[in-house]
Amino acid sequence: MNKQRLLSGHETELLTNEELQKASKDLVMYKSGLVRILPDGWLYPAIATRYLDRIYNMELRSDDVLIMTFPKCGTTWMQEILWAMIRNPDLDPSNEEIKEPLWVRSLDVGIDMLFDNYKLAKNGMNSIAEKFSRVCPGKKKEDGMAIQIVENQPSPRVIKTHFPLDLLHKDLLKKCKVVYVARNPKDMMVSFYHYIRVAKGGSYQGSLEKFAREVMRGEIPYCPYWPHVLQAWRQRDNPNLYFTTYEDMKDDIMGELRKVNKFLGKNLTEEQLKKIAEFTSFSSMKTRGEPIDKAFYIEDIWQKEGGMFRKGIKGDWKNHFSPKLNQEMDQWISDNVKDTGLNFKFGN
Ligand code: A3P
Repeated sequence: MNKQRLLSGHETELLTNEELQKASKDLVMYKSGLVRILPDGWLYPAIATRYLDRIYNMELRSDDVLIMTFPKCGTTWMQEILWAMIRNPDLDPSNEEIKEPLWVRSLDVGIDMLFDNYKLAKNGMNSIAEKFSRVCPGKKKEDGMAIQIVENQPSPRVIKTHFPLDLLHKDLLKKCKVVYVARNPKDMMVSFYHYIRVAKGGSYQGSLEKFAREVMRGEIPYCPYWPHVLQAWRQRDNPNLYFTTYEDMKDDIMGELRKVNKFLGKNLTEEQLKKIAEFTSFSSMKTRGEPIDKAFYIEDIWQKEGGMFRKGIKGDWKNHFSPKLNQEMDQWISDNVKDTGLNFKFGN
């Protein structure tokens, strides 16, 4: 089926063979192709359309917390913070769940769409598949492993999503809480470029400049970037959405933890927050290891440059951008933030 109307009201449009061939020069393709979701033009593996309505209609609980981000903006960091605050605030090492990788403890509800990829289909999701067969006996994988695990998860849940607000239920912010983390688009770009090279599902071969232009034109899965961030930014005064940035977290993690603590109504002590700050520091998280299955990565790039934990710094774009790319990005940024009141910090 070429076109489909989603419960969110969006219309889907499969990319044509011609478009796919153009897109596939540097991207390993998904078996089902790619789909564009209109009007914003969200681009995903086409199999996403199998799960999107179920995700839209997922039964939300009042104590659910969603961590929502455009990829590479600080998801894993905030995810571990939220998970610790909500499910293990004393960092009890005997907590049974902590033995699971983060991506199983706090699932990306849409992650099944990635495993439609030729290179990931085989082993890229073993820990999720194992959990699925354990907690969802008799259920069908094809209906989405992540969403079905999440439906069975005990409360309070910490759910991850890279889908934007408008693809989720229209009453989302009336029913539960969302923490949105944005990151300055220059550092996002460097981090995203690394990720699309190291992830088997990406295996991107082109240059950073080529990639950045494709992201700016919305031609890479998960794009476009701006509507994603701006939809959340416009909700920044909604009491059920906490909008923050990677840069603010880097500048003052304790300040951020206090704000999140208040937002969640957790009443954790300063001592607990301090320990959570240490537990979720870049070096602690990197030492504990990848939050996802290693089979997800291309081994040699992962060895040399890291996987989910690469550098964890601000301003790394300065080490990678040519003056020309920087100029193009500045233009793209100023065109898109105009009249929005959104400002990013770009320094180190
Ligand atoms: P870099 O590639 O710039 O190093 P996401 O989790 O959304 O995929 O974002 C990944 C980015 O967050 C990577 O950025 C990664 O290094 C950084 N990151 C992950 N955990 C972090 C932490 N605890 N502190 C700071 N940065 C972290």
